[in-house]
Amino acid sequence: MKIFLDLINDSATDDLVWMNGYLNNLVQSKGAQAAPAQSDGAPAVSKITIVYGTETGNSKRLATDFATKAKHKHIHAKVIGMDQYRLSDLAKEEYLLAVISTHGDGEPPAAAKKFYDHIHQNGFKLEKLKYSVLALGDTSYPLYCKTGEEVDDQLNRLGGLRIAPLQKCDVEYDEDANGWFNGVLEKLSNTKKDTPAVIAVTGAPVTAKKGKQTHTGTVVTKINLNDIGSNKETWHIEIAAEGVEYQCGDSIGIVPENPPELVEDILAVSGADRNRVVKFKNEDCTMYELLKQKINILFLTERLVKQYAEITGNDIPPTRMDLLDLLKIYPVKDAAQFETIVCKMNAISPRLYTIASAPAAHEGEVHILAVKDEYTINGETRVGLCTDYLSKLEVETQQRFFVQTNKRFRLPAEDKDVIMVGPGTGIAAFRSFLAERDATGASGRNWLFFGEQHFINDFLYQTEIQNWYETGVLTKVNLAFSRAQHYKIYVQLRMLQHAAELYEWLNNGASFYVCGKKDPMSFDVETTLLEIIQQQGGKNTAEAKKYLELLEEEGRYEKDVY
Ligand SMILES: Cc1cc2nc3c(=O)[nH]c(=O)nc-3n(C[C@H](O)[C@H](O)[C@H](O)COP(=O)(O)OP(=O)(O)OC[C@H]3O[C@@H](n4cnc5c(N)ncnc54)[C@H](O)[C@@H]3O)c2cc1C
Ligand SMILES: Cc1cc2nc3c(=O)[nH]c(=O)nc-3n(C[C@H](O)[C@H](O)[C@H](O)COP(=O)(O)O)c2cc1C
Repeated sequence: MKIFLDLINDSATDDLVWMNGYLNNLVQSKGAQAAPAQSDGAPAVSKITIVYGTETGNSKRLATDFATKAKHKHIHAKVIGMDQYRLSDLAKEEYLLAVISTHGDGEPPAAAKKFYDHIHQNGFKLEKLKYSVLALGDTSYPLYCKTGEEVDDQLNRLGGLRIAPLQKCDVEYDEDANGWFNGVLEKLSNTKKDTPAVIAVTGAPVTAKKGKQTHTGTVVTKINLNDIGSNKETWHIEIAAEGVEYQCGDSIGIVPENPPELVEDILAVSGADRNRVVKFKNEDCTMYELLKQKINILFLTERLVKQYAEITGNDIPPTRMDLLDLLKIYPVKDAAQFETIVCKMNAISPRLYTIASAPAAHEGEVHILAVKDEYTINGETRVGLCTDYLSKLEVETQQRFFVQTNKRFRLPAEDKDVIMVGPGTGIAAFRSFLAERDATGASGRNWLFFGEQHFINDFLYQTEIQNWYETGVLTKVNLAFSRAQHYKIYVQLRMLQHAAELYEWLNNGASFYVCGKKDPMSFDVETTLLEIIQQQGGKNTAEAKKYLELLEEEGRYEKDVY
């Protein structure tokens, strides 16, 4: 330093000007090695990883879009699902973006569980990591974006530095998600590689502002579409609601009420006063309204059972249980303690039902098709909360609902062909598609695969389907009644029996849709589709997968499965 100062003191002004320029160039070229982007317009960070955890595909789609955007900014982005991510790579990761949704009762998507569990193990440090989390969710659920919150929190705990704060997104996520990514890109472009402190951001998570519009409609029709002798109860319900707007492929969300007899039992066991006014989520309601319409009292999560144990001072092993059983086995001290417990419980989650009507055919109405959910616990048959509630709805009563848009399940252009696979309640989406195409006179061909247990009593929407076939709206219909013969026949078999024609439709630009039960139906249908592509297209497994991926990218393979 002394030599340097002596040199400056001994130099003439002209020499100083020259030295200034020389040093400037030197600094710039050295700087470019550490942060190559800054001097030539290229980004400071040239490589990132985007991991996504998805159940219904939204996070994957966003992650893929982000990677394309990053590429335009000369940032190479590796996109990978959390189920395929090598967990040992995490410690080496420098720039990681996580896009993850929340499912179930505030749980990670099944495909993200391994990643989620891994980062929650603690016991290791992520010293190099700079990251940001985009959380997809839905404000109608009590545990809004919980998984995204947890992932953000945990990566921070493990030593990661936030590039940008957690961004939570409601169902209309595009704007907020893109805003978040643009912010992240800006940070990455302006960041010197070796100065992570510059990019460390703290502060409250950014929460989307938009809520969902709730409609109140009148139940105008309620019919069980199964005939006597069926093993099922499948309810077709029509709700008239002025001004309701939706598109074919959307669903509606319904928040069910708890069964009145169960509420009475809880009031009796707890000794609570049904008319007492209590506060739940900053709103006043009576204890009866709270128990009947607001809180989930069934199959409480382990977290809530633990909370119950703490408040009542009981030692309860980790388990899930109904509130009434908890009250019977581990009684509350008094009504005041009961009030403390119930006011901290979760709101009832909405259930989604694919819309079975079409805007062009059923103006001012939404129709749904709900099969009564039955399951067995310890030999006792029980029914699903919402489907039981729907099966008991009275005509002429009011029902609240919201529209859940599904941009990833849309009819193609009117002249394009569609192949629809919709066994069971999966037919709902295709009743909507067909009614719309019928009402608008769309010229594309329509091919339906439908299946159920018995022809005689389970052929849902039989007259409408036959009518559409007779009038030419439906070009082809293939039916599979699994129990109509001594061996099982499912829609997949019908697909295989028509493999050549199906492949020809696909090659001619048809879109392929699946709606209904995810497991096993949609998996089996996909396996069969791959088999058909292999067999008819003379492709190997990898080529068939590529073909299907391409269809998916083009929006020609879409699923509404649950
Ligand atoms: C996008 C989308 C579209 C959908 N569209 C349709 C549709 O068109 N038609 C349709 O019928 N359904 C549809 N569903 C499914 C629907 O949303 C509901 O999940 C379904 O009706 C069951 O709800 P439920 O309240 O009756 O059952 P729940 O009470 O929620 O029970 C559901 C399951 O949880 C488990 N469970 C509940 N309580 C217990 C317990 N105490 N112990 C152990 N296990 C328990 C059981 O396995 C039970 O079967 C759709 C779902 C999605 C996500
Ligand atoms: C059955 C079901 C349960 C859900 N549970 C929650 C939840 O507990 N909290 C939440 O914020 N969002 C919840 N959601 C909303 C999803 O997170 C939201 O639809 C998201 O956009 C899905 O993204 P994905 O397609 O990447 O999985 C749930 C959605 C479904 C269908």
